[in-house]
Amino acid sequence: MSYGSFPSTRPRRNRIDAFTRRLVAETRLSVDDLIWPIFVCEGENIRTRVASMPGIERVSVDLLDAHLAEAVALGVPAVAIFPITPSEVRDPVGTESGNPNNLMCRAARRIKEVYPELGIIGDVALDPYTDHGHDGLIEDGYVVNDASVEVLVRQSVNQARAGVDIIAPSDMMDGRIGAIRKGLDEAGFVNTRIMSYAAKYASAFYGPFRDALGSGDLLKGDKKTYQMDPANSDEALREVAQDLAEGADMVMVKPGMPYLDIIYRVRDRFSAPTFAYQVSGEYAMLMAAIQNGWLDRERTILESLLAFKRAGCHGVLTYFAPEAAKLLRKQ
Ligand code: PBG
Repeated sequence: MSYGSFPSTRPRRNRIDAFTRRLVAETRLSVDDLIWPIFVCEGENIRTRVASMPGIERVSVDLLDAHLAEAVALGVPAVAIFPITPSEVRDPVGTESGNPNNLMCRAARRIKEVYPELGIIGDVALDPYTDHGHDGLIEDGYVVNDASVEVLVRQSVNQARAGVDIIAPSDMMDGRIGAIRKGLDEAGFVNTRIMSYAAKYASAFYGPFRDALGSGDLLKGDKKTYQMDPANSDEALREVAQDLAEGADMVMVKPGMPYLDIIYRVRDRFSAPTFAYQVSGEYAMLMAAIQNGWLDRERTILESLLAFKRAGCHGVLTYFAPEAAKLLRKQ
């Protein structure tokens, strides 16, 4: 066998040992990249499991201190709060979203009191508050845009007053970012940031989240007239361009793993702070395989999150946040 013309370039040389692999690594996952979505419920001393999301619990406001303690100690920079609104206070127009004492606001005030340094992200959409489970108001069976935006502006200002640092509109109404920015500025919240769910798809992967919130059974029909068609990619760029022009400080792509191509294009085109949401269905899917012993828990969690960094994300909303933070510390 002659090696005369054998290539002198051997990519495997840079993979030969751990120190070389560390030196040539192009991306890194750090605790600074993690945002933890949490489910908050009414009552006292309540912790209930979400059946389709093993390891995830809904907790009452009085238990938040303890629930968040480890994540805060590990350095997780921010949490995203999702309230579980009892059906008695839901109505067709989501009135409860503007109540200064709603669950979301009480949770935000409590977190700011105990952990003033922890960033709070508030989801803005009406689905936790409507009795039909849609993100806006319904007229003649259609989720109407402009009237919904007015309610979303009120909801945003209400959250900012309670101490929410970053307003995250997940409703996909047209023009809501500009309207919310104006509403926040007029109310004096010029430094409250907006992380827009700019490219949010009408996805099957939100199923477990809707179970967690109890909005799954309520939801009539689907969200296809406002959330994006999974077939589209150029449209995501137009959505992001519009949200940035209207004043979004950060943009998000959602879901995450099935949409890494979208993340890549968004970051590449706009160079804006880019986030992804590794949603409930992605968590459920990974956990199901992990619990069956089909995937290695630690490696799978870290690899799934590193993929977001490689695709161009600045950070990721992930239900794995506290565990990933722990694993990163160990590394
Ligand atoms: C609400 C909202 C949803 C999610 C975040 N905000 C559900 C939906 O649009 O139906 C999903 C998050 C997840 O699945 O983890 N508008």
